[in-house]
Amino acid sequence: MSQLFPAMFTLPNLHPLFVHFPIAFWLLALVLACVGVWRAQSSSFRFAGWLLHAGTMSGAVAVVSGYLAAAPMDHEAPGHEIVHVHRNLMLAAAAASLVASVAWLVLRKNACVRNRLVQLGCVGAVVALASLGADRGALLVYRHGVGVSAEPSDSAAEHGHDGSHEHEHR
Ligand code: HEM
Repeated sequence: MSQLFPAMFTLPNLHPLFVHFPIAFWLLALVLACVGVWRAQSSSFRFAGWLLHAGTMSGAVAVVSGYLAAAPMDHEAPGHEIVHVHRNLMLAAAAASLVASVAWLVLRKNACVRNRLVQLGCVGAVVALASLGADRGALLVYRHGVGVSAEPSDSAAEHGHDGSHEHEHR
């Protein structure tokens, strides 16, 4: 299996496997809600609701995997304070998504324009929080190297990719 999925066997935790689902669901929910907000009985608006609920459920899984990823982290490690910012924003996004899902179910019973605009606003708030939080998550990985194996891979060493050679520039 490690030959087939080498990256999966390199991951220090499973958080990266789960984080993209809620982000994709929330973003798509916002796009479809924008498309359908002005039309009563719009199928894209209805589908946006299902995507929002899928985002709420997968967001809960991402939160649990995030706590498991952060548990072994050293409090003195560089960038540790960003974990707190990321965690707080993502907890806010997940909580907002739960509220938005419940509000969606309540408001859809009377699908007037005003209610649909409130539903759209709720999804927009979730996406805003998730975007800020995901940016801090990416900062952890790409600036501070959290969750990244810093050792050169065997194949890089075999091919002499240790900085001791020069690349040909054409
Ligand atoms: C809805 C919930 C969450 C989402 C969508 C989410 C999303 C992300 C994203 C997009 C990254 C960057 C991954 C990459 O670029 O490869 C990340 C990294 C990270 N997140 Fe989250 N996150 C969530 C909740 C949490 C929570 C609650 C914690 C901690 C208590 C947490 C801790 C971490 C850590 C430690 C990393 C660094 C990479 C790693 O060790 O896997 N996350 N997260």
